[in-house]
Amino acid sequence: MNSLFSEFRIKNLSIKNRIVMPPMCMYCAPDSGMATNWHVVHYATRAVGGAGLIIVEATGVSPEGRLTSNDLGIWDDAHIDGLKEIVRAVHENGAKIGIQLNHGGRKCTAEGVEIEAPSPIPYEEGDAVPREMSKEDIADTVQEFKRAAARAEKAGFDLIQIHAAHGYLLNEFLSPLTNHRTDEYGGSPENRVRILGEVLDAVSAVWPAEKPIEVRVTAEDYQEGGNHAEDLGHMLNLVKDKGIDSVNVSTGGLVPVVPKAYPGYQVPSAVTIKEMTGLPVAVGGLLSDARGVETLIAENKADMVYLGRELLRNPYWALYAAKELNVDLEWPKQYERAKPR
Ligand SMILES: Cc1cc2nc3c(=O)[nH]c(=O)nc-3n(C[C@H](O)[C@H](O)[C@H](O)COP(=O)(O)O)c2cc1C
Repeated sequence: MNSLFSEFRIKNLSIKNRIVMPPMCMYCAPDSGMATNWHVVHYATRAVGGAGLIIVEATGVSPEGRLTSNDLGIWDDAHIDGLKEIVRAVHENGAKIGIQLNHGGRKCTAEGVEIEAPSPIPYEEGDAVPREMSKEDIADTVQEFKRAAARAEKAGFDLIQIHAAHGYLLNEFLSPLTNHRTDEYGGSPENRVRILGEVLDAVSAVWPAEKPIEVRVTAEDYQEGGNHAEDLGHMLNLVKDKGIDSVNVSTGGLVPVVPKAYPGYQVPSAVTIKEMTGLPVAVGGLLSDARGVETLIAENKADMVYLGRELLRNPYWALYAAKELNVDLEWPKQYERAKPR
C-alpha cells in the first residue's frame, strides 16, 4: 500500500516520500531576477525538514513572464549560477528539486512591462487591458520556455513544472473565459491547449528524456462558462504524449472569484484528472493534518501532496508527521538529539 513516507518514482527521479513543497513566490528577488541568499536558505531549510520534493517558486521565462518585479528569473544565462546554488543546497540536504517555469500573461505587474494575453481582456474592471498576442508573440513565448528549460537543466534541477494554472498566460489560453481568439489558438479545446502542446514539444527537445515534466493546472474556474476538471482532463489527454509525466491539480486564480476553501477542497478535481488521464497527480490546498494526507495517499486519491503555507509555518512538518504516523524517520544528524522518542 502507498503511504506518505513511501518512495515515489517518476521516470528516473526517485523522491523519498510524497511530501512536496509547492512553488511559492517569495517576492524578494531584485529586478534582475537573480536568486539571493534568502532563496538558498529558504529552500534548503525545507530539505533539512524532510520534504521529498521542493519546487522553486514561479520563475519568469522572460521579464514580461514575471508576476512582479521581485520574481526569480530564468530568461538569461546569468541566472543559472544563482539557481545552481539553490539546487546544490537542497540536494546536499537530501531532497529533490524542481522549478516552476512561468509566464504571467495579463497578471504580470512588473514595472515597465507591457502585459500580453491571448485576448485583450483585463483581469478586473479597471485593470490594464493586455495586448492580444500575435502568432509571432506565441512562437517567441514557446521559445522562451524552451531556453528556460535548457537553463534549468544546466542549473541541475530534477524536474520542471510548467505553470498552466492560477490565471497566468498558459491558463489564459486554456480557459474560454479569457481566450476569445478565433485563430488556431482559440475556440475548441484542441485549439486552446495548442500552446501548451507547443511548449511541451519545445521543452522536451532540450530537457533530458529521463527527467520528469509536471504541468500545474487550474481545474475549476468557479465561474459560469469556465473550465471544470473534466475539461482539463480532456485537454491534458490531447497533449500528454508530448511529455507530461505528472500533473498538479489546483483551482481558481483565473478570474477574481474566491472559492470556498477547506482542507482537501481540490481533491475531487484531482481524482477526476487522475482517472481521466492515468497520470500521477499531486494535490494540495489547506492540507496540514498528517493522518488526513496519509489517507489521501493510501486511498490512491493522489500520488503526492502539496503542503504550501504549512511548510512556511513549519519547515519541519515532515519530521513531526513521521512521529505522528509511527514512522521511524532518520533525522538530520545535527538534530538527532532533538528527535522525539
Ligand atoms: C506566499 C505564497 C506564494 C505562492 N506563490 C505561488 C507560485 O509562485 N506559483 C504557484 O503556482 N502557486 C503559488 N502559490 C500557491 C501555492 O503553491 C499553493 O497552491 C497554495 O498555497 C495552496 O496550498 P496551501 O493551502 O497548502 O498553502 C503561492 C502561495 C503562497 C501562500
